[in-house]
Amino acid sequence: MTAEISPSTPAITVVAHAERRARELRDLLEQHNIAYYVRDAPTVSDAEYDRLFRELQDIEARHPDLRSSDSPTQRVGGAPLSAFGQVQHRSPMLSLNNAFIDTEIEAFDRRCLDALNAQKNDYIDYACEPKFDGLAISLRYENGQFVQGATRGDGFTGEDVTANLRTIKTIPLRLSGENIPAVLEVRGEVLMFRRDFDRLNERQRAKGEKEFANPRNAAAGSLRQLDPQVTAERSLRFFAYGMGDAFNGGETGNSQSTALRLRSGSAMQSRDSTPAPSDKDADKNAAEMRMTYHSEMMHKLASWGLPIASEREVVRGAAGLLAYYQRIGAARVQLPYDIDGVVYKVNRISDQAVMGFVSRAPRFAIAHKFPAEEAQTTVLAIDVQVGRTGAITPVARLAPVFVGGVTVTNATLHNEDEVRRKDVRIGDTVIVRRAGDVIPEVVSSVLELRPTNAGESIEFVMPTNCPVCGSAVAREEGESTTRCTGGLFCPAQRKQALLHFASRRALDIEGLGDKLVDQLVDAAIVKTPADIYKLGIVGLANLERMAEKSATNLLAAIDKSKHTTLARFIYALGIRNVGEATAKDLARHFGRLDSVLSADLAQLQQVPDVGPIVAQSIVQFFSQAHNLEVIEQLRAAGINWPDAE
Ligand code: IVH
Repeated sequence: MTAEISPSTPAITVVAHAERRARELRDLLEQHNIAYYVRDAPTVSDAEYDRLFRELQDIEARHPDLRSSDSPTQRVGGAPLSAFGQVQHRSPMLSLNNAFIDTEIEAFDRRCLDALNAQKNDYIDYACEPKFDGLAISLRYENGQFVQGATRGDGFTGEDVTANLRTIKTIPLRLSGENIPAVLEVRGEVLMFRRDFDRLNERQRAKGEKEFANPRNAAAGSLRQLDPQVTAERSLRFFAYGMGDAFNGGETGNSQSTALRLRSGSAMQSRDSTPAPSDKDADKNAAEMRMTYHSEMMHKLASWGLPIASEREVVRGAAGLLAYYQRIGAARVQLPYDIDGVVYKVNRISDQAVMGFVSRAPRFAIAHKFPAEEAQTTVLAIDVQVGRTGAITPVARLAPVFVGGVTVTNATLHNEDEVRRKDVRIGDTVIVRRAGDVIPEVVSSVLELRPTNAGESIEFVMPTNCPVCGSAVAREEGESTTRCTGGLFCPAQRKQALLHFASRRALDIEGLGDKLVDQLVDAAIVKTPADIYKLGIVGLANLERMAEKSATNLLAAIDKSKHTTLARFIYALGIRNVGEATAKDLARHFGRLDSVLSADLAQLQQVPDVGPIVAQSIVQFFSQAHNLEVIEQLRAAGINWPDAE
């Protein structure tokens, strides 16, 4: 017999071997991933990649203990969320000032020269990059591991979209390379390539689902999915353009304590616009981390496996900036993704720190935007739209035209005066413009192309009654907006009115928010605030996302709201120009609702701070029969307040 081997030895060897192989495979796959997605230079065939991937999956299936969150097999995981959590950005995500014309860029260069006390013949080197038309994102890496990713939000607090970001293959789950900082926040943009966008819309069409207007909307919609599985199917990309918090060693929580923080084009941005003081006691890692130029920092990010745009250049002075703008403008159609301009950043990081920030944008950087796109089409009709506040806006219905990345069929004409000023008529050929996410607008009519036959060129007439509810419309002296006087009665204004009615300072109905009001109005369950008091448990519990418990809570809140004050009740009615303070004044002055209802202009103006405009709004509101009807129903529903206040 040969020497005995202890039964446990082979098992340990097997596990050790599996562990080593799993680590190897993860490294290999990550490297291949970067080569494929980030550097666009695949290093293995798809078949070989799949083989390695399956081998790793196999090992992890046999040894569940060896699974780790940074494994390429673990990109999609976890159940759908019910809501996104909030993330506080350690350094705020700010915005950029915009420029459109050459002289604004020359002025920017001059400002930079002045701020840096440049002498005659001095020049500044700028790092130039495309301005990605996607969504701003911050990625946090701790010890090289991707730990959290968030949207920009309001710049200070964003949404935690980590699970969705993990599904984006160009975002490394683990950084590789030299001198990886202990904490690194990468700032960049999530977007969708045009070809992926086209494919997505094809799929949407095939499924009979709504198509996305443009790659930006598709990227935003895909990233804000509560189910990461859906995001995983959407082929999103990420490009880095800078750093947020970044430091080596030390504690990770305190954003001012470490000496190793970088300040750069997208780096340390302190809220008070004063750069953080530099610390002479920086440890040796600081030297490794300290970078002189923004362009150098971008190389560092790339060296750690983060994707950066290849269309970056460092140029000299205003002339260099303008030449870059021309080059990228010409290359724009060939890029696989949409850009809406280019971004210039003073390249030397210490110069950036000297220049600092003004309000919410850096002084050392600027976005040079491409001009808004314009196209020519014809006006088929001019309708009016009723907004949530009753504003009646003329809207040109257009022959469909592709402009600024979307097909436009409507364009706002703002108000009656604008229609006259631009002299836009039905039948006209017009120039429409669309920039970014703004509502398309009619720039002008091409008068030479106006039809000469009577009947083919028709002037716009503002209707005298609201097209939605039929109430009279009114346009006050000195105002450009025409409004529907229907108030609570007008369905177009109903949702807003209901939300106002239920708001905290009005009748304070907790739980009656946006989503619920949308559902209730769309299903015609609630038309006026009085209908809120007719809701029952069965109807409510049948609504989407409404569990029986929430329905019970809501009914309790509705019941509680019946005991209120006259001031709150008047405010809740949503009379134009009657805010909380005026509502209180009216309640105090008249003491009873009936007295307010029957007051004439002169009596109303005896109330402190009530002038002719406010008095007119009040009289107008109570002169509408349907408003009186709603008030009657509310009283009948049991809404009450102490007699005189
Ligand atoms: S640097 C202090 N570089 O533009 C802000 N931003 O208006 C530093 N953006 O939402 C931003 N491409 O997400 C920078 N190459 C680029 C960019 C870029 C797109 C976005 C950014 C932000 C917006 C700023």
